[in-house]
Amino acid sequence: MLSYLHRYHAGNFADVHKHLLLTRVLAALARKPAPFCVVDTHAAEGIYDLGAAEAVKSGEAAEGVARFLALPDPPALAADYRAQAADPAAYPGSPVLALRMLRADDRLVLNELHPQAHAALKRAMRGDPRVHLHRRDALEALVALVPPPEKRGVAVIDPAYEVKAEYAGVPAAVSKAFARWRGGVYFIWYPLLPEARHLDLLGALEAAGFPEVAVSEWLRRDPGEGRGLYGSGVAVVNPPFRFAEEAEELGAWLAAAGFGGSHRLTRFGP
Ligand SMILES: C[S@@+](CC[C@H](N)C(=O)[O-])C[C@H]1O[C@@H](n2cnc3c(N)ncnc32)[C@H](O)[C@@H]1O
Repeated sequence: MLSYLHRYHAGNFADVHKHLLLTRVLAALARKPAPFCVVDTHAAEGIYDLGAAEAVKSGEAAEGVARFLALPDPPALAADYRAQAADPAAYPGSPVLALRMLRADDRLVLNELHPQAHAALKRAMRGDPRVHLHRRDALEALVALVPPPEKRGVAVIDPAYEVKAEYAGVPAAVSKAFARWRGGVYFIWYPLLPEARHLDLLGALEAAGFPEVAVSEWLRRDPGEGRGLYGSGVAVVNPPFRFAEEAEELGAWLAAAGFGGSHRLTRFGP
């Protein structure tokens, strides 16, 4: 069952949260000269025209990245994402965001199962020799594709959670991957929905006993108000140095600068 197409949701508030924080992980990796690798297990199409019919119809980008770009006094930590998100005709999904921050010797390993999304992704990568494409089940791919030879890098795990088993499958696959690649950063997105299934995912991450996990949650509204997605969560296993502080600063700015909602940062480890 692959009915989800990210083009309806590209640039929404959850993408703003996820992509903003992902630029901080990539910037941290690029601080050291040794090459790094990005393994993106749920890559989707790579790049989006926010003026296309699907994005206009959903209206999600207008409430997401368009509002974000209008916020006053952006902190320096938001500069990479603001620059990347500035052109609504070429809004970067996680693969293009990563591609634009790669250096000559870094690599990008992309996986996407949906045939239409995979074909679009291939076009978006334009044969870049640093990019390797796969079309297989994401959680199997996560375990099979790590550790990368570089030994430094991040795995980006961003399911659509159409399949409820993913709330248990993600932490299980991350645990298996971690056993093979203890030095990797694992960047996991999850939705905040009234059913609160994300609590199972977070409980399993906590029970796995990773050395450090930083969790950033941006609540756009009160969980009790209305239906559907009320917030966006990002859990990072092995967060880079100062990632949690940066997420806290960015979250506080988003809420205070006029976007509204609230942000909370939690950390756990043994
Ligand atoms: C939320 S989107 C990813 C968005 C992307 N990471 C970004 O930030 O631009 C989820 C993607 O996962 C893909 N997907 C869903 N189930 C999958 C599976 N079992 N294996 C691989 N890809 C899958 C969907 O086709 C969809 O393109």
